[in-house]
This record gives sequence, structure tokens and C-alpha cells, in this order.
Amino acid sequence: MKLYRRPGRELTETGSFRSFLHCWFCPHAGAQYEYILVDKRGENKNVGLIQLNRPKALNALCDGLMKEMGQALDGFETDGDIGAIVITGSDRAFAAGADIKEMQNRTFQECYGGNFLAHWNRVSTVKKPVIAAVNGFALGGGCELAMMCDIIYAGEKAQFGQPEILLGTIPGAGGTQRLTHAVGKSLAMEMVLTGDRINAQEAKQSGLVSKVYPVDQVVPEAVKCGEKIAANSKLVSAMAKEAVNAAFELTLAEGSRLEKRLFHATFATDDRREGMTAFVEKRKASFQDK
Ligand code: HXC
Repeated sequence: MKLYRRPGRELTETGSFRSFLHCWFCPHAGAQYEYILVDKRGENKNVGLIQLNRPKALNALCDGLMKEMGQALDGFETDGDIGAIVITGSDRAFAAGADIKEMQNRTFQECYGGNFLAHWNRVSTVKKPVIAAVNGFALGGGCELAMMCDIIYAGEKAQFGQPEILLGTIPGAGGTQRLTHAVGKSLAMEMVLTGDRINAQEAKQSGLVSKVYPVDQVVPEAVKCGEKIAANSKLVSAMAKEAVNAAFELTLAEGSRLEKRLFHATFATDDRREGMTAFVEKRKASFQDK
């Protein structure tokens, strides 16, 4: 596994540093990450990988981690080689939620005044397709983080839940909205009101995840999916993503109108012409993202 790292520090396959400081450099703007690992994967190194790396806290999503996630996403968003992004955690935990210890003593005034969690939105505003590769716990903000991604692949032992109610609070990063869209009202209500978790198979049956794989296959399969996406036009993929996401916000008439306009817009791209010409000439299309 090739990783960007500082000289003298070693990163194991399981993602834990043999170093005390857990610091490393990312090629994006020379950023130095403490809570995440960043890599480029796939045969053509066109899939960006962000691995949450707070194993002792089950990847609890502290403020610093989410800020680093935003920086890494910014880097991949502007990296012309990258066509898709995979976000993953460890085998034990994708993420066990927002960091409860960090939130424990916060006041309403601090939360409201400081617009607590506002920067989490970066994950859902990235134009490039994002795939969550989930093993282990995806709870609270961890489940919400997965749902901010465009596609979710789960490992056989993954567990999804919104247990905030057990802490005297409610989901705050889109969980009540995205979970309800994904699994329907009854199951979403049950999960949000009881804090009960669902397993990978239940998540698949309810439409929360699209595929379930053995634990060690989740990340490779997510990268393969990312490679397939990256082989298409980045420009047109962004339009497709925008159109699908509109289904969550617009009426059918408004969404269909937006879709039609975006469809028309593909005819302003070289890639649309190349895609159709390649079909007619019985060859593989070579997209230039123009
Ligand atoms: C901070 C956490 C954490 C969290 C686990 N840890 N989850 N720290 N925030 N969300 C820490 C534990 O304190 C412990 O560290 C270590 O991780 C291992 O956890 P254990 O509980 O000992 O492991 P286990 O018995 O296997 O139980 C795993 C677990 C449990 C079921 C996932 O940790 C758990 O219930 N975690 C909280 C899940 C949760 O409620 N998530 C929602 C958070 S609120 P130490 O050092 O103490 O031993 C939320 C709000 C979102 O996400 C709002 C918008 C973002």
C-alpha cells in the first residue's frame, strides 16, 4: 500500500502508525493530517481514498477530523486525476459517531452561536462522486457521514444506527432526513426513536446500502466502483450526480426540468460527442473531461 508519509514514520496495512505523533503529509497543499490517511488508489491512481484514523476512539468524528476531511476533499476535488473518492474507516468502525467527549460540555449558546457542525456539509457538496466503504459501526454522525456519500458499500458485519436519542439528543447532520429518504418512515422512525441498529443485510434490504461484501472486500470493491466512475467524463458525472441529488430536494416537475436542462447541457461538451461517436465507431470512448 503506497502512502504519503513523513520520513521515519511507518504506516501498517491496518492503518496504525508506529509513531507517537500520528502526523503525516498529504500532497494536497502540503496539508498535515492527524486524524485521516489519504491515498490515491486504482490502476490509474484516479480514485481518492480517505481513511478515518482514530482507531482508539472508534473513529469518533471530532472537529479536527471533520476539518481534515474537508481539506482532503478540497484537494481531491481540484485534482484533475481524481474521478471518484472513497471514504472508509477500519474493520471495527467506520465511525462511532460525533465525538461525545468533545460535545459533552457544549452549551446551546456555543452550538447555535458557532453554527456547530456547519462544516460537516462539505462531504455532501463535493461534485465528484463519493463512495462510503463501511465496516463495523456506522453510528450517529458515522451513519450520517455514510449517508452524505453518493453510494454506500457495506461489509457483512457493518451496523448502522442513529443512537442519539440514548444520549438525550437527535441526529444533527442530516440523519432524520437522509435515513427517512433511504429506508422509509417506519424504519427510520424506529431507528431514531429507539436507537436500535440494523445490520448490513437489513441495510441492503431497506435500500440504505447498494452492495454487501465480505469485510476485506469492501474497500477494494469500492475502489473498483470508483475506477468505473472515473473512466467516464468527470464533467458529465458531476451533472448526473447533480440530477440524482435533485430528486431529494425538488418536486418531480422541477427535478425533471433540471434533469432535462442538464441533459441538454451535455450536448455542449466534447465528451458527449466523443461518447456517441465512439459507440458508432465501435470503439471505447476516451473522455477528456471537456
Ligand atoms: C467519543 C467514543 C465514541 C464516540 C466510542 N468511543 N464511540 N468516543 N465519541 N462517539 C470511544 C469509547 O469512549 C472508548 O474509549 C473507545 O471508543 C472504545 O469504545 P467502547 O465503548 O469501549 O467499545 P465497545 O464496547 O465495543 O462499544 C462500541 C460502541 C460504543 C457500541 C460503538 O462505543 C458506543 O455506543 N459508542 C457511542 C455511539 C454513539 O452514541 N454514537 C452517536 C454519537 S452522537 P475510552 O478511551 O473511553 O475507553 C452523534 C451526534 C451526531 O453522533 C450529530 C451530528 C453529527
